[in-house]
Amino acid sequence: MRKPFMAANWKMNKTSRETEEFINTFIPLVRDISDVDILIAPTFISLETASRLLKSSNVLLGAQNVYHEESGAYTGEISPDMLIAAGCSHVIIGHSERREYFSETDEVVNRKIKLARSKGLEVILCIGESLEERESNRTFDVLSGQLSGSLADLSLDGITIAYEPIWAIGTGKTATDEQANETHAFIREWLGKHRENADRVRIQYGGSVKPENIEGLMSQPEIDGALVGGASLKPDSFAKIAAGASGK
Ligand code: PGA
Repeated sequence: MRKPFMAANWKMNKTSRETEEFINTFIPLVRDISDVDILIAPTFISLETASRLLKSSNVLLGAQNVYHEESGAYTGEISPDMLIAAGCSHVIIGHSERREYFSETDEVVNRKIKLARSKGLEVILCIGESLEERESNRTFDVLSGQLSGSLADLSLDGITIAYEPIWAIGTGKTATDEQANETHAFIREWLGKHRENADRVRIQYGGSVKPENIEGLMSQPEIDGALVGGASLKPDSFAKIAAGASGK
């Protein structure tokens, strides 16, 4: 059995003050949900505030990115040790926005995961195809390439995969439940062929997830949770999404 895992990716939204307001409202809303892992990933600058407020709650803390060197002359970057010291247990790596706007390649993603894992951070690895790739029937090739590049020389310990079709992110277009499940099944099959313990890996769906579509998605056997952007910015909305995974 894989415990459902719902993660909020806030992207470049919310000051520390707004983070505090969110968390104070959110914690009571999800206090009784014990059969779902719930995580919030605020911006770097709000991590310490969030960590203090989430202490002794059932909500986990993650960062949205990390650098692939331990320390040194890398202006503007943040290391795994810094994230751990700020209270993070998880980090999102390889989000499509990082790949697109910050030129992150699978090789860079792989280096980031290696260092983060060696320090004990759990990783949410994002993969996904563009609309053009889907329409030209290249989805499975693209995903295989991202998986083999990003996971090179790594086991699946401490890794969650977030499948996020780029055409569904922030667009209001969700993959249908069946489309998402089919792709998740492909990802698990790939993992099973190339790594041990693939059946234990949680695969989240991401892309315009909201309270209205979470139950349909979670009813699919291969969907183990969600990585949620826009709909995670309001406490009641993200609490409904977390509750929608309860009982799976
Ligand atoms: P969205 O973003 O829910 O706003 O589509 C998801 C993501 O990019 O993680």
